[in-house]
Amino acid sequence: MRAKKKIALVGAGLIGRRHFDVMRKLDDDIIIDSIVDPSEAGQDFAKSRHIPWYPSIGDMILASSPDGAVLATPNQVHVVNGVECVNAGIPILVEKPIATSCSAAEELVKAAADNDVPVLVGHHRRHNPWICRAKEMIKSGGLGRVTSVHGSFWLYKPEDYFEQEWRRKDGGGPIMVNLIHDIDLLRYLCGEIEMVQAISSNKERGFETEDTAVAMIAFKSGALCSFNLSDTIVAPWSWELTASENPEYPATSQSCYMIGGTRASLSIPDMKVWSHGEHGHWKEPIHAKSVSEPKRDPLLLQMKHFIDVIRKEAEPIVSAQDAVESLRAVESIKLSALQNRPVYLHEKQT
Ligand SMILES: NC(=O)c1ccc[n+]([C@@H]2O[C@H](COP(=O)([O-])OP(=O)(O)OC[C@H]3O[C@@H](n4cnc5c(N)ncnc54)[C@H](O)[C@@H]3O)[C@@H](O)[C@H]2O)c1
Repeated sequence: MRAKKKIALVGAGLIGRRHFDVMRKLDDDIIIDSIVDPSEAGQDFAKSRHIPWYPSIGDMILASSPDGAVLATPNQVHVVNGVECVNAGIPILVEKPIATSCSAAEELVKAAADNDVPVLVGHHRRHNPWICRAKEMIKSGGLGRVTSVHGSFWLYKPEDYFEQEWRRKDGGGPIMVNLIHDIDLLRYLCGEIEMVQAISSNKERGFETEDTAVAMIAFKSGALCSFNLSDTIVAPWSWELTASENPEYPATSQSCYMIGGTRASLSIPDMKVWSHGEHGHWKEPIHAKSVSEPKRDPLLLQMKHFIDVIRKEAEPIVSAQDAVESLRAVESIKLSALQNRPVYLHEKQT
């Protein structure tokens, strides 16, 4: 049996506790080294699980030497936490988004490169077997050339969600909080994004941040995408309400992405491939074939991958630089809506 890896959990809040449960399930590979969380709740959690507790990463590093750290802390401290770990030679799995802005992320990207320490970013949906299957199908040409994509994030958030002030302020809306997940998947499936053009509205809730937006996206491959998002619509068409990844959101059997190719189209996550008969056009009946994969927990698969990364048996599926590009796309969508113009992702800033 191979040696287990010692992992520190930094941030024992909502998602940190889910990572904790996942690590417990992987006890053939992982020893939970410590919990770092300055809050009383974090300390109590560590105590109740009989795990060494530290108030800061600095204290943890002085007392222990983990093989890796999971950073499940607020977005604002991802960079400072991440830099501290990689400077100490500790590989990290840092939650998404990698930083609050692309410029802020640069410090972490550089520190990781300078120290040659791997960073895996927690865009966990990429580890979902349905997404892996979709990626394979697209790559192998099973859909023909992908011409266009339609995506939807429509759901209704309850009023108490907005009790926390940051969720009503600029940056706390569905573009930065939710769309970043969808954009990361679309980049994974369809390649890099060249240009975006978006409009947004805050008419329904009247907060500083948007509640609804529509984005047009042009991929470098030439494929296009329309993405429609709102947290004020009662509807089943979002990843959250279709993928059954999180038990807090009761799932439906609907889909939220339609990937359209010249030979077939694929709806995700119901994983139906639609195609015609031998001539492949609209005058023939169109049929759906299911290409579904057995459901597995992507957080658990992500953690297994992190162990492989620590063992140097795999490169991170979502590297720091890769995650910066997803962040750049959502920042550009926000900018486009604000300035009412197309935004090229790598345009020179004036
Ligand atoms: N992958 C996903 O689907 C997903 C879901 C939810 C949240 N997230 C991300 O996970 C991160 C945490 O979100 P959350 O909802 O769990 O937040 P949370 O507020 O529930 O938990 C954050 C925890 O970090 C602790 N903390 C704060 N500063 C710290 C520091 N400097 N060092 C150590 N601990 C510190 C807090 O005390 C708290 O316990 C965010 O980046 C969020 O975007 C990802």
